[in-house]
Amino acid sequence: MNSLVIEKTANYFKQKGILLPTISELQNPHLIDTDIKNKVFKTDKDAMDPANLFRVHWFNKSDHTNFLDVPEHIVLPDEFTGIEAKIIVNLGRYFPLITAHKVLAAYGCLLPRILNGTFDYSKHKAVWPSTGNYCRGGVAISKILGLKSVAILPEGMSKERFNWLEKWVEDKKDIIKTKGTESNVKEIYDACNELEKDKNNDIINQFNEYYNYAIHRSITGSSFEKSFLKVKGDSNLTARLYVSASGSSGTLAAGDYLKESLNAKIAVVEAVECPTLLYNGYGEHNIQGIGDKHVPLIHNVMNSDYVVGVSDEATNNLNLLFNTSEGKNYLKKRKGFDGEFVDRLPEFGFSSIANIIASIKLAKKMKLTKDDAIITVATDGADLYETELAKTKKHFSKIYDQITCAEIFAKNFEAITVDHTQELSQIDKERIFNLGYYTWVEQQGISLEEFENRRNQSFWDKHYKDMISLDEKIKEFNSF
Ligand SMILES: Cc1ncc(COP(=O)(O)O)c(C=O)c1O
Repeated sequence: MNSLVIEKTANYFKQKGILLPTISELQNPHLIDTDIKNKVFKTDKDAMDPANLFRVHWFNKSDHTNFLDVPEHIVLPDEFTGIEAKIIVNLGRYFPLITAHKVLAAYGCLLPRILNGTFDYSKHKAVWPSTGNYCRGGVAISKILGLKSVAILPEGMSKERFNWLEKWVEDKKDIIKTKGTESNVKEIYDACNELEKDKNNDIINQFNEYYNYAIHRSITGSSFEKSFLKVKGDSNLTARLYVSASGSSGTLAAGDYLKESLNAKIAVVEAVECPTLLYNGYGEHNIQGIGDKHVPLIHNVMNSDYVVGVSDEATNNLNLLFNTSEGKNYLKKRKGFDGEFVDRLPEFGFSSIANIIASIKLAKKMKLTKDDAIITVATDGADLYETELAKTKKHFSKIYDQITCAEIFAKNFEAITVDHTQELSQIDKERIFNLGYYTWVEQQGISLEEFENRRNQSFWDKHYKDMISLDEKIKEFNSF
């Protein structure tokens, strides 16, 4: 706690008209003061305006004119999925500023630093290492708060991410490109360790920040419970699974909430081409945002129940199908799927499609029925991958027609099997947990005691409780 910095920052924010939303407000934005809400709805959702902090939650209406009672979500039609169980996809692209929910993780990780006065805006730079969306969220939140920031991401990430960053950073030097692509996280850590030598750089590493875990458990978890309860209505629907691809494992933490409240099991999704959890494997893949050749420190492995591998060949090809007029025609006319639903498929980015495929795999493996629901998430939409789509299209260089579309859909969707799907035994959980030792204790200097403490659920509960107890501090800070 540094009271001088807290007071200085509170005054700085006051001059800029900045108020910080509380955890309760982000769990239920109807609690937000009416004057603030009116200001929010007059503000463009992507504007560099502190009012947009009050949009950093799951309840934004798709046209951003109001807050909803439950997150925007899509229940996938049975005729599309080919399974009876209901798959509820919560949509992340209605978060402000970056059209992805990772802006929430960034807010959650920065917030305690502001409240405890460990981040001094006059000296420090917020450094946001990520594979793309989290660093954009971090840069956006920093800019709104008038803080200096740096984004670190692999050079091979989608061009759309770099275009966005270039518009937001003060100086292009504040975008650090590390070697490799999606799964080259070690290279990101190396860059962070180098930057950390300058004590004015505050590395806000989503892979080891327990606040990333805690913000998702408290806010994402309770929000997804609401969309499930809405879909359930008066029926007997049971939430059997929460399915989430893991990058930092932040989003996965919503599962810890849903397990406690709805008794849902937790499934982690990764790319088959980089099967770290399934096979202790490695490799390159294009499911951007996930699967990074290591077990994040904030992954509560001992509470995970399934691991599912999905191929990026499927996500690349289905992305093409879902986002081209040829593909949409095929789905509407040839397959007869509801036109309105097909027009919403672009709301699913690569990792969202991976979550949907994994959900279908698990529904098949567990023989789920119409009374069962799977809760999952679409972190971002296809609009962030237009250049990637063009690359996939090149693979079908000569002909991309209705027959190609039929082949893509039959091979990558209708033929989904239960391959690369594992229910975790105690030994499997320990194997995955122990794999993290090499990254965190050997390479990154985490103490063995802290590493081991993560086996106990009370460790995670404490971080969750810390997060939900921040409200009083936030109110105090706002009223300085
Ligand atoms: C598109 C996308 N999907 C999934 C994830 C994984 O989310 P998490 O880091 O919370 O595990 C990310 C993370 O950046 C992402 O950008």
